[in-house]
Amino acid sequence: MGKQRSAVAKYWRQYKWSNIFAMMRNNRADPKVCSDDFQGRLMVITGGTSGIGYVTCRKYASHGARIISINRSREKSERLCEELERDFGVECDYKIADMSRLEDSIRVGKELSEMKDTIDVLIHNAGVYLTRKTLTVDGFEMTFAVNYLSSFVINYLIKNKLKSQERARVIMVNSEGHRFAVWGIKLDDLNWQKRRYSGLRAYGSAKTAQLLSVLLFDEYFKGSGVTINAMHPGAVKTGAGKENSTFYKRFKGAIIDRLSRSPEISAEALYYLGMSKEVEGISGRFFNLTREEKPAPPALDMEIAEKLWSESLRKGWY
Ligand SMILES: NC(=O)c1ccc[n+]([C@@H]2O[C@H](COP(=O)([O-])OP(=O)(O)OC[C@H]3O[C@@H](n4cnc5c(N)ncnc54)[C@H](OP(=O)(O)O)[C@@H]3O)[C@@H](O)[C@H]2O)c1
Repeated sequence: MGKQRSAVAKYWRQYKWSNIFAMMRNNRADPKVCSDDFQGRLMVITGGTSGIGYVTCRKYASHGARIISINRSREKSERLCEELERDFGVECDYKIADMSRLEDSIRVGKELSEMKDTIDVLIHNAGVYLTRKTLTVDGFEMTFAVNYLSSFVINYLIKNKLKSQERARVIMVNSEGHRFAVWGIKLDDLNWQKRRYSGLRAYGSAKTAQLLSVLLFDEYFKGSGVTINAMHPGAVKTGAGKENSTFYKRFKGAIIDRLSRSPEISAEALYYLGMSKEVEGISGRFFNLTREEKPAPPALDMEIAEKLWSESLRKGWY
C-alpha cells in the first residue's frame, strides 16, 4: 500500500493532459511514408508469421530487403519465406523460437550475435495479449515473457555485434497500451502473484518494461551509429488476442476489429522508422506510428529502468 502511494506521488505531477490529447490526435493520423529502396540490406523481425509482422515482412520485401524472421511455427515460417521469394524475388530465412521460453530467446540472441552479415534493421515485434494469467515454463507471467523479456534477452545478447557494425536501427513494437500501467511496474511482483491479474494491466506493465529497457539500450548505443526506438503500430485488425476465450474473440470481432485500421499502416510506419533519412540518428524515442510522442511517466523512470535491467539479468543467463 505504502509503495503504491509513493508511485502515485511520484508520477502524479508528471502526467500532462497535453500528452493524452497528442496521443488522441496521433491515433487518427496516417503514417509518414518512405519510398527509399532497401535493396541488399537485411531486416530481422520476430513474429513475422501473422498480423503486423507478416505485413511488415511483405513491405520490406517489396523494397528488396533480405529477411530473417524469428517465429514459433515452422509451417508458417516456410509458407512466409516461399511467399516472399515468389512474390518479390528476395532471400528469406527463418529461425524457430518460442519467445515465451528463455532458452529459445538466448539461443536466437547468440545465433544472431555470431552472424557475419550486417543487420540493418531489427524489429522486436512478437507479442501477446492475455485475459487470463498464464505462466511460462520458466515461471514468468506470459505477457511479461513474450512482450518484454524475450526482446530484452535478444537485444542484450546482440548489442555488441550491433555496436561493432557501427550502424543499425532497432525498433521495439510497443503500444499505447503501456499507459494501462498507470502507476508503473511492480518490481517485487513482476509475475502477478501478489495482485489480482488483469490482462490490460499486465499488458501495460510488459510494454512499460520494454520502454524502460529502451532508455538504457539507448545509453549503451550512444555515439555508435546504432539507434533504438519504440513505436505504437496503431490500433489495427490482426490476430492479437487469439489465445483468449471464445467470448473475448466474439467481443473483439464485433467491437474492437470494427474500430481498428488495417495493419498496412503499421508496416508503413515500421518501414519509415527503419529506413527514412528523417529518422537518421534519432534514438531513445517513442513514436505513435511515425509521430514522436511522450510516453507515460512510469516509462521514463530511470531509477526503475536500472532496477529492472538488473532484475532481468538476475538469472545469470547471459
Ligand atoms: N494489433 C494492434 O492493434 C496492436 C496495437 C498495439 C501494439 N501491438 C503490438 O504489435 C505486435 C504484433 O501484434 P499483432 O497485433 O500483429 O498480433 P498477432 O497477429 O497475434 O501477431 C503476433 C505475432 O507474435 C508471434 N508470437 C506470439 N507469441 C509468440 C511466442 N511465444 N513465440 C514466438 N512468436 C510469438 C505470433 O506468432 P504466430 O503467427 O505463430 O501466432 C505472431 O507472429 C505485438 O507486440 C503487439 O503487442 C498491436
